[in-house]
Amino acid sequence: MVYLTRVEHFNAAHKLYNPNWTKEKNESIFRGCANENWHGHNYELHVTIKGSPSPDTGYAIDARILSKIINEFVINKIDHKNLNIDVDFMQGKMTSAENLAIAIWDQLATRLPDGVQLHCVKLFETPRIFVEYFGN
Ligand code: NI
Repeated sequence: MVYLTRVEHFNAAHKLYNPNWTKEKNESIFRGCANENWHGHNYELHVTIKGSPSPDTGYAIDARILSKIINEFVINKIDHKNLNIDVDFMQGKMTSAENLAIAIWDQLATRLPDGVQLHCVKLFETPRIFVEYFGN
């Protein structure tokens, strides 16, 4: 098995706010991410697949094809969008990096070509905070 990672970038707005809590508690737990009128992040998404190199191409997957799949099912739905409002696969979820990474996994896992498996979705919310999801 060989692992290949494609990096994509998107910007999105969100707010972390639990409606069951008071404003004070939300601000205490989520700090800037609870800002009532939204805020944005410059996200970086690393999608790692695993597979065996094809005897014909030497590729586990053509990185352009992987990029196309990521763009069609993830980036085009979330780039320059409000994650709380605009994104079908985030409806009803807290828009944390953790939940977003899991939702991105679910968007991609069944859409890869035969012989290629999703290995990791790594999502940077800031240059110093990232989450990784391996499917369970
Ligand atoms: Ni935030």
